[in-house]
Amino acid sequence: MTRISRRTLIAAAGAAPFAYALAGAAPASAAPTAEAVALPAPTAHWAFDEGAGTTAADASGNGNTLTLTGKAAWGAAKSGAYSLDTTPTGYAEHDSAVVDTSAAFSVAAWVRLARNDGYQTFVSADGAAVSAFFLQLRADTGTFAFTRLPTDSTDANTAAAVAGATFAPETGTWYHLLGVDDPSAGTIRLYVDGVLEGEAAYTSGWKNASGTTAVGRGFYGGAKVDQAYALIDEASLYAIALTADQAAALAGVDPADTAPLLSIDTATAGPTVSPDLGGIFFEDINHSGEGGLYAELVNNRSFMAAATPLHWSATGAGTITIDTSTPLNTALTQSLKLTVTAPGDGISNEGFWGIPVRPRTTYRASLRAKGTYRGRLTVALTGKDGTVYATGTTKPVTGDWTRYDLKLRTTAAAPTTSAATLTVTTGSSASSSDTLWFSNVSLFPPTYKNRPNGLRPDLAEKLAALNPKFLRFPGGNYLEGNVIADRFDWKKTIGPVEERPGHQNSAWGYWSTDGLGLLEYLELTEDLGCAPLLCVFAGYALHGEHVTGDALKPFVQDALDEIEYLTGDTTTPWGARRAADGHPKPFPLTYVEIGNEDWFDTSGSYEERYAAFHDAIKAAHPHLKLIATTPVASRPYDLIDEHYYQSPSAFQHGAHKYDNRDRTTPKVFVGEWASQSGRPTPDLNAALGDASWLTGLIRNSDQVLMESYAPLFSHVSNNVWATNLIAYDALTSYNSPSYYAQQILRTHQGTVVAPTTARALPGLNTVTTRDPGTGRLYAAVVNFGSVPRTTPVEITGARRVRATGRATVLSGTSLSDTNTLTDPEKLIPRTHRITNLSTTFTYTFPPYSVTVLELDAPR
Ligand code: AHR
Repeated sequence: MTRISRRTLIAAAGAAPFAYALAGAAPASAAPTAEAVALPAPTAHWAFDEGAGTTAADASGNGNTLTLTGKAAWGAAKSGAYSLDTTPTGYAEHDSAVVDTSAAFSVAAWVRLARNDGYQTFVSADGAAVSAFFLQLRADTGTFAFTRLPTDSTDANTAAAVAGATFAPETGTWYHLLGVDDPSAGTIRLYVDGVLEGEAAYTSGWKNASGTTAVGRGFYGGAKVDQAYALIDEASLYAIALTADQAAALAGVDPADTAPLLSIDTATAGPTVSPDLGGIFFEDINHSGEGGLYAELVNNRSFMAAATPLHWSATGAGTITIDTSTPLNTALTQSLKLTVTAPGDGISNEGFWGIPVRPRTTYRASLRAKGTYRGRLTVALTGKDGTVYATGTTKPVTGDWTRYDLKLRTTAAAPTTSAATLTVTTGSSASSSDTLWFSNVSLFPPTYKNRPNGLRPDLAEKLAALNPKFLRFPGGNYLEGNVIADRFDWKKTIGPVEERPGHQNSAWGYWSTDGLGLLEYLELTEDLGCAPLLCVFAGYALHGEHVTGDALKPFVQDALDEIEYLTGDTTTPWGARRAADGHPKPFPLTYVEIGNEDWFDTSGSYEERYAAFHDAIKAAHPHLKLIATTPVASRPYDLIDEHYYQSPSAFQHGAHKYDNRDRTTPKVFVGEWASQSGRPTPDLNAALGDASWLTGLIRNSDQVLMESYAPLFSHVSNNVWATNLIAYDALTSYNSPSYYAQQILRTHQGTVVAPTTARALPGLNTVTTRDPGTGRLYAAVVNFGSVPRTTPVEITGARRVRATGRATVLSGTSLSDTNTLTDPEKLIPRTHRITNLSTTFTYTFPPYSVTVLELDAPR
């Protein structure tokens, strides 16, 4: 093969750039120069230069004439006289296949978008149900792609091979797209403007389309879809896999300008990184709160969870029932009744899949009891074999409800185990005529920052190490409940815990004592040094129940009261209540979110509900910023909360979603997002998807002001939602690879985005930030590939680059690698020194890796 010179390319681009005249078979007068790249003759080539009529001739001479349908028209040319304009809707078709799509082939076209949203297919070939290939713009990623499905059906859509571009295209700009199917390499590739942008494995499955060849649309589910809104010019098909040089030649660029290069521009200031960007979102799902972050060790301490004594059993020969006739108070209307048969009878709680015990540890137990029995109660942490690890006794029981508080201290000989129970037993004076009632039987281990009614230290510390800027709470579906009665009714979650009735967490299937209530969430923000992002219930429950009009007013008032509880001084009624609850100082509050995922409200009531909350909150607190959960028309909102749960590869390809966002539209809060791969926590595949997605959020944090991954937690024994950031059992916890990926991107971050381009580096996602004051650069690179990527790096605009720097790397050997309770540190980030740096250097990114290079590059 000969190479094309830059001069030849320019001449070709101006005159007959797509003429297979460049190929050896070309007429002698148009023979390529010695350096020219030889291009094969296409199987079909539509120049779209007719400018009139309804047919487009095949310039290859093979007679594959296209017929224009619908409102397809002639438009301004990239080359020659005209192009095909599919913007008014319509396309052009040839009624049979042009290339054998079961063998090597390539498909090319110049495309100028009139719109850069939605799925738009520029060239395709129909099967019975779907196109055999799509040279397209994808809605899910906002980028160009060359896509093939494994079967001629929509069944395997999720297994599509997508060779996607690494940037979001603009409208009004001509791009040269080339899709290559290369069976000998087992891959499909996408070139844009001659640069390799995407590559994906495509080896087996359905391949051969025999139907119509189309320009300006695709075919899916047996229907013509993916209308292109674009000018399309010089579309061509080849019965071979074109090479990289041929890709460059077809696009009219010098092959040398298409070589891989990671280029970091320190001279141009990109967006300032949003100071509020990285937060956390907590909701009680998978026993994230009860039996998770909330440190209470007794399961169903209030006996309110059911009509039967869930998680409790009788010890000895006694019997236990739930009693509704002997309430502790108006909140805890059920108690546990123990009918004694013999001395020593008692009750036992199994905890949340066990009660954890450690040596030399002090536990705080408390309970309410009354009864006919007049002796003392023994409260103990007991092993499965009856071994007592810690014990204490109460004062004698009386006929009135009395609170008993004890400290249980384990000895040095106590094991570290979760195979323990909490027992409360009668003494030798108990008799078969005795009855006892219990309420609010509680046991706390040491808590995070020693807060009473506090949090589990290992889990809270994991949150703190994420350096969150805000805490979104209390949910999610947990906020809404399946029905309105099951919502997070904040007024019932404050004050002494025995005065909180609790509620059914119907969204996630278990009882919440509401011990983790509004004030506890707020204190967590204080302990983490982050801002509260308050989600208020907005009159809609998950199963569709919703309120409007006058019925909405109490809910609006609840939200106003809640805001006053957070922010009011102690002269306000709810500020005074907060002080009475132990926190006189108001909390800072900037953002209030109105509802959750109200796009599910098919009644369309959000418009009215949002307006009611908006007007009331803005009237009382004009400075507060409001977050809408789905677009509304009648009132403004400061942020829109978008949620994304996708496959790792969708996140990989979606990293450019916000690059070309209309920057005049309301800013975004990506309040829930996560790659779905791995259970109960993300595997490396998901971590790479998450890190890729995060590069896009950081790069666009002038648009995406805040983001929070979801869900945060799962108990390993209650993994209702598959993929969660952190998992634990009663005793221990671990961070997922995705946790570490996010942590290293958050904690190795400058204040300004440095524009970075990754040329011909498919599979890499990247963002660079820098600190203008120090010149420190943080180049984050995600390598989704299975092979090391030796990458030329250039740093422009810097006076010099210090020869040494640091690389922090998270990597593994397989996409399914993950961390577990038993192997919690299989994948953790490691930092090492790097040398021989300068304004140009080469760095090898390991397979399946997230890397942040820290470089000193003063300007
Ligand atoms: O994060 C889990 C759930 O996903 C949230 O509760 C809800 O908002 C979303 O649908």
